[in-house]
Amino acid sequence: MADLPEGEAAPETGELPASVGVGAAERTFSVYLHVPFCAERCGYCDFTTYTNAELGGGGSAAEYADNAIREIELASKVLARPEPAAEGMVPRPASTIFLGGGTPTRLPAADLGRMIGAVRDRFGLAEGAEVTTEANPDSVDRAALDELVAGGVTRVSFGMQSAVPHVLATLERTHDPERVPRVVRWAREAGLDVSVDLIYGTPGESLADWRTSLDAVLAMEPDHVSAYALVVERGTRMGAQVRRGELALPDDDDQAEKYELAESMLAGAGYGWYEVSNWARIAPGDDPSSGRLLHASRHNLAYWRGGDWWGVGPGAHSHVGGVRWWNGKHPVPYAARLRAGLSPAVGRELLSEESRELERLLLGVRLAEGVDLARPGEEPAYRRLAILHRLVAEGLCEPGPARSGRVRLTLRGRLLADSVVRDLTD
Ligand SMILES: C[S@@+](CC[C@H](N)C(=O)[O-])C[C@H]1O[C@@H](n2cnc3c(N)ncnc32)[C@H](O)[C@@H]1O
Ligand code: SF4
Repeated sequence: MADLPEGEAAPETGELPASVGVGAAERTFSVYLHVPFCAERCGYCDFTTYTNAELGGGGSAAEYADNAIREIELASKVLARPEPAAEGMVPRPASTIFLGGGTPTRLPAADLGRMIGAVRDRFGLAEGAEVTTEANPDSVDRAALDELVAGGVTRVSFGMQSAVPHVLATLERTHDPERVPRVVRWAREAGLDVSVDLIYGTPGESLADWRTSLDAVLAMEPDHVSAYALVVERGTRMGAQVRRGELALPDDDDQAEKYELAESMLAGAGYGWYEVSNWARIAPGDDPSSGRLLHASRHNLAYWRGGDWWGVGPGAHSHVGGVRWWNGKHPVPYAARLRAGLSPAVGRELLSEESRELERLLLGVRLAEGVDLARPGEEPAYRRLAILHRLVAEGLCEPGPARSGRVRLTLRGRLLADSVVRDLTD
């Protein structure tokens, strides 16, 4: 699992500086509920997640909803402190909730419903709030999907990864690819918005394999598709297989070709990109040229646009008004601290104005709506503007938006998004 960042110690009460209230009324508020349990750990996965055999001592899946609800209660107290500067924090209902993992659907749907209910009771839910849960295709059936809807879920994101058996085997995925269209159909019948996650660039995956996966996705007509280039992290089983030479990683050209194929097949079938790795089915009234799409994930957009969010659960990260903090990873001390009335946060970072500005650029560059080089009412720094013009000349950013100091990636720029970000933020 990835290491936690370094930072200062977080206060045991979870309290936040009064400065987080400044401008809060203009920012959206979201809740991320991390569910750190999986049936098996996939060889490539670096997320904070545990199998049953690894847990006990108050940190088990059966006790998890109660522990998470304790953190939701702590969050509502911390954010409702009556200091005048924090006033803006109090009345904000959650615009989005995201249950991620791990495999949230390892827990009974009733437990997920109780966690959503706790957010609703403590914060309120905004009108039309988006409530997403991730799910493995083999962790839900039709009845569970109906129960999730009854519990307040509006959207489901299935970890499909690939439709090709040898690719799924290399990824150590346990689900049967034939089950995916079935769960997608059940989810739609239950009234959910449906997203599927894909991974490209798995060792041994050919371009034809990737086309097969994309064809399978298009046949299901989901509302939303995420396609991620495989990241092989140190410390994972796949990382060790690559180090030992048992698996060979694809080169950059292979990855670029697969990204371009995804873009052309998805665009051809009526999907628009709104973030480098995310596409949504274009709906009436959408404006694809600016990435404004009804079926885009509003939760992820809230992260990328610098909204406030509280991350509940072991290893979860939070960000409110320029303060970032993170919880300890193991479910047992997580549960023990909450039971003792303490915050599970183990570290935090107070972002300077300069780092908040850098982060705004870093996240905004990857969005189809683009991002202004300068904050509203300010002139872009000459040096940054010169870099943007060079990126336009290299065909990485669009010339029209650049004339008013806005960065918007071209298709070539999306392929090289990391290097564009590096150039602009160096
Ligand atoms: C946290 S996972 C949870 C979803 C669910 N547990 C599943 O795997 O079906 C969310 C998504 O991140 C992506 N992902 C996870 N590890 C990845 C990696 N090493 N490289 C690229 N994408 C990854 C996968 O597409 C996965 O569906
Ligand atoms: S099921 Fe999802 S979260 Fe769990 S180990 Fe696999 S990729 Fe990671």
